[in-house]
Amino acid sequence: MAPSSQQSSSTAAWTPATWRSKPIKQSPAYPDESKLQKAVKELNRMPPLVHPTEIAALKANLRDVAQGNAFLLQGGDCAELFDYCEQDAIESKIKLLLQMSVVLIWGTNKRVVRIGRMAGQYAKPRSSPTEVVNGKEMPSFRGDILNGYHEDEREIDPNRLLKAYHHSAATLNFMRSALASGIADLHRPFDWGLGHVRDPGLKEKYSTIASSIQQTLRFLQVINARPEELQTVDIYTSHEGLLLEYEQALTRLLDSPEARSPAASRFASRAPSPPPGEADDTLPVRNLAIHGQDYYDTSAHFLWIGDRTRQLDHAHVEFFRGIANPIGVKVGPTTPVDDLLALLRALNPQCEPGKITLITRYGAGKVADLLPKHIRAVEDSEYRRCVVWQCDPMHGNTLSTEAGIKTRRFNDIYKELQESLRIHKEQGSYLGGMHLELTGDAVTECLGGSEGLAEDDLSTNYTSFCDPRLNEKQALELAFLVADHFSQEGKTGRK
Ligand code: PEP
Ligand code: CO
Repeated sequence: MAPSSQQSSSTAAWTPATWRSKPIKQSPAYPDESKLQKAVKELNRMPPLVHPTEIAALKANLRDVAQGNAFLLQGGDCAELFDYCEQDAIESKIKLLLQMSVVLIWGTNKRVVRIGRMAGQYAKPRSSPTEVVNGKEMPSFRGDILNGYHEDEREIDPNRLLKAYHHSAATLNFMRSALASGIADLHRPFDWGLGHVRDPGLKEKYSTIASSIQQTLRFLQVINARPEELQTVDIYTSHEGLLLEYEQALTRLLDSPEARSPAASRFASRAPSPPPGEADDTLPVRNLAIHGQDYYDTSAHFLWIGDRTRQLDHAHVEFFRGIANPIGVKVGPTTPVDDLLALLRALNPQCEPGKITLITRYGAGKVADLLPKHIRAVEDSEYRRCVVWQCDPMHGNTLSTEAGIKTRRFNDIYKELQESLRIHKEQGSYLGGMHLELTGDAVTECLGGSEGLAEDDLSTNYTSFCDPRLNEKQALELAFLVADHFSQEGKTGRK
């Protein structure tokens, strides 16, 4: 259903619990309230998964993206499973994101900000409460954080909220240690694996890019240069902030690094004053200026509001308007133009650049009609150059084969990206990122790409329990194509 255009007040009192008085979509009916309360209480006691300093650093990076000085690569599984919390799966995703980002740095000549859809992407919105699997109707799989895929695990289990926390913690711990231990050492040669590329023209294009990158890295090694980008490789974490019980339990009032930074004084001077006698826990949004503290959702660095839960007067927008994290909003064919500005005003009343990422996902056939209107609404307002525009070319391009297999065509995905790049250029705005569903494994879930995956190939290694993901070759190919686009543009003189 299209979100309503009734406006949520950005000045009303906010606490991490005010969302509970609003209507809500996609909220699970927990079968056992006392079990839920017990799980939430325990979550509330757990240490934060991420720190405000990291969240603030990501926000500063996203400000650079919004202003056209960096590019955002965000990717990972559609539905992360607890089973993916193991060394190989995590390592292969990190390596893929890193390799793609090197290609994008080469093409864009800009820093690349990396965010994984990982270490918490366990909750899935569903269009229907039930689904048919192998001819049998059962409650829909809503992600490992609520129920299991197997038939006998379909009942919602609140203990899974705790399991989600622990799997996020283990995944994040390994990500941090792997990155700190040099998994991202760019001086090791990459395996570009271009053997599968059948088209000789494409093969030459990709090989040229790969060898140019390799040469540059060798040169840096020889002169013992360690540019900042190669020294500290960060991958931030993100997930859809769907389950507000979980997000609330991990939201904490913490000292704000932004309060200490010069940029914060700008917001401080514009922050509303508390009404006299107002209790500390019902302060107006963003009490940064008042106490040097802010509410951080410590479940991930970046959270986004999905396409099904961005109604202005509903619970998700209410919750997200009060936290200091950078947040994403999915924008699609059902987003009324007027809602877009109202959403920005509700979620980012102080116009912090980089605070909001608009993740556009229309479908290759619709983007040309819809994106320009959304761009104009934002760029002709006070939010000009304030948001990050990011293209999600996955979620508007899902289709079913005749055999009923959910898939996406590589060409549709690339087309939506290309169209978005073209339209942003025409409109004078900056497409600052891409948001992909991908995996580091050799799955066969999306059609096409240089391997030429056909419908008959889909059954070879189709392992997604939710949406089809790009495999590592398809994902890297997309990075090559986008990098090539930017590099050609650079040659024709555009900044
Ligand atoms: C997703 O990103 O996995 C998703 C469900 O997307 P959307 O909300 O855009 O449909
Ligand atoms: Co998805």
